Order: sequence, then C-alpha cells, then structure tokens
Amino acid sequence: MKMPVESCHVGEYNILEHTDLGEGWFRIDIDAPEIARETRAGQFVQVRVGPGDDPLIRRPFSVYDVGPEPGENATEIRLLIQKAGPGTEALSRLRKGESIRLMGPLGHPMPVPDLKSPAAMFLVGGGIGVAPLYLYCRERLKEGSTLPLKVMLGARRESLLIGHQGFQDLGIETYLATDDGSAGHQGNVIELLDQQLGSLSEGTQVAGIGCGPHGMNLALRDIAVERDLEFWISLENYMPCGFGACFGCVIAGPSDGPLRYRRVCVEGPCFPAKELPETF
Ligand SMILES: Cc1cc2nc3c(=O)[nH]c(=O)nc-3n(C[C@H](O)[C@H](O)[C@H](O)COP(=O)(O)OP(=O)(O)OC[C@H]3O[C@@H](n4cnc5c(N)ncnc54)[C@H](O)[C@@H]3O)c2cc1C
Ligand code: FES
Repeated sequence: MKMPVESCHVGEYNILEHTDLGEGWFRIDIDAPEIARETRAGQFVQVRVGPGDDPLIRRPFSVYDVGPEPGENATEIRLLIQKAGPGTEALSRLRKGESIRLMGPLGHPMPVPDLKSPAAMFLVGGGIGVAPLYLYCRERLKEGSTLPLKVMLGARRESLLIGHQGFQDLGIETYLATDDGSAGHQGNVIELLDQQLGSLSEGTQVAGIGCGPHGMNLALRDIAVERDLEFWISLENYMPCGFGACFGCVIAGPSDGPLRYRRVCVEGPCFPAKELPETF
C-alpha cells in the first residue's frame, strides 16, 4: 500500500502569526519551509497540542494555505481552526513567536479532473470544511488552470461563514448558504448545489469536491451516486496517528475493490463519492 508518509517531516516550527477570527475560529501561520513547499491542497498536518506528550494523540488539520504562494517558493503553512475541544482550545492560546510541533504533509492531495468545456467544478464546503478548498483554488490559479471553479459554502449563520471573502478576493465564483438566511441562500449548501446543478446547460461536464460535516458529506455522496457525478469527498474521520499505523480511521472499501478497509489518513482523505458506502 502506498504510504505518503515517506515524504513527511516532523519538527518544531515557529509561529509567525496567530489571528483570532471570532466565533471560536483562528488562523495560525507557521514558518515551515520543507512542509510548505511539499504540501498540496487536501493534505493535512498532525499537530501536537500540548507542550509535552499530553495529550498523546496529535490533532489533524488541513493545510488551509501556504505562503507566499503554492509550490517551490512556499515557506509557511497556514491553518484555519475552529475550537472543538481541549486540543483546539490549547492551540487557540498559542501566540506569535511560540513554537508548534507538526508532522506533515500527510494524506493524498485532492484530484484535479480534466474537464472539457462546457464544464463546472464545484467546491462545496460546510463549516470548517472550507479549510482545504482555499489552497485548491490558489493552486489552480497559479498553474493557470481553466477549470471553471464554483465555490459553495454553508454555515448556520453569516458570522460562521469564515473564509468566503478569500475566495471572492481570488475572483472565484462564490455562493453562500446559511440556515437562518443571514447570508446567501436560506437553507443548506446541498440545496444550493442542487439549484446550481439544475441551472447548468445540457452537456455540461460536472465534477466536484466536498468537505464538511458528516450529514453534508452523506448528502453529497447521495447526489453524486443518484446523478452519476464525478464528485470526491474529503473525510475528517477521527485520526489517532495520521500515517497509517493504527487503523483508527478506516472506512469500508468498495465491494469490488482490493481493500476491505481503507485508511482515511493514507488512502484518503479524499475519496470518489461513488466509492463510499451509503453510510460511512
Ligand atoms: C484530515 C482532517 C482535517 C481536518 N482539518 C481541520 C481544519 O482544517 N480545521 C479544523 O478546525 N479542524 C479540522 N479537523 C478536525 C480537527 O482535527 C478536530 O476538530 C480536532 O482534532 C479536535 O480536537 P480537540 O482536542 O479540540 O477536541 P476533542 O474534544 O478531542 O474532540 C472534538 C471533536 O473533534 C474530533 N476529534 C478529536 N480528535 C481527533 C483526531 N485526532 N482526528 C479527527 N478528529 C478528532 C472528535 O471526534 C470530536 O468530534 C480535521 C480533521 C481531519 C481528520
Ligand atoms: S489514523 Fe492511524 S491509520 Fe489512520
């Protein structure tokens, strides 16, 4: 089995910026050149959240962005984090100039489909699922890709829609959905996707990547299966090790595939939606 962990770096890195974004969200910019230049969108890092070995289990976070630009010249990685429990709470208290222990990059990059015009490439993010999608857009823009990207982001209310301005600043078509209607479509991001799919002209080639809470991922998988769409879903399963050793993150493999179980951290975290079981 392929082990992307071969090119993984482990070390202690300097925090360049620590920015509170409100509503329990924050961003950490880290000086980590060897990780930054090798990271591709969809990959993640495992972070030690305490000063010692407690808690022992590292926490996984998608690389939200690399700076100053993706590729060979990148020197820093940026993480976008939402407080969820003690680990993220501890990370929220770190400050510029302090150090942070990382392992990465881990997992496989997100796929870049080859679509023929007319085409639409949907990037669907729910809540913190927005994190890996921004770097995906930056990479496509840097390589001069003509993939017609459409970003769709959903959250409970406007103040929880973090990161959408970044896509708009890149000039990417961005659509918003909030449960309470405080921004964009009132409802969930899957309804928004459904509307957009319905408005495409006949013969449009469609692909997409989604990353969000479990319910959103399940709904996205169902849409992809029902309509035979080339969608991938990036999963955020509980990951005790992050590099394939513990099997704590497995999902069932497709019945006609070679693997009975697939490790989300190594074979993923992004999987073709049509290969995911009805419940995962
Ligand atoms: C590949 C991947 C990428 C992720 N990217 C981001 C991101 O960019 N930004 C972000 O804010 N969050 C991200 N997460 C989720 C993040 O890892 C959890 O929110 C974090 O680990 C919670 O730790 P905690 O100690 O604060 O909370 P806990 O109280 O330990 O847990 C709170 C919630 O987080 C889950 N969780 C705890 N530990 C892990 C773990 N080791 N692996 C996965 N889930 C865990 C728990 O199941 C629980 O639902 C990602 C998860 C994965 C697997
Ligand atoms: S987290 Fe250990 S094998 Fe995936």
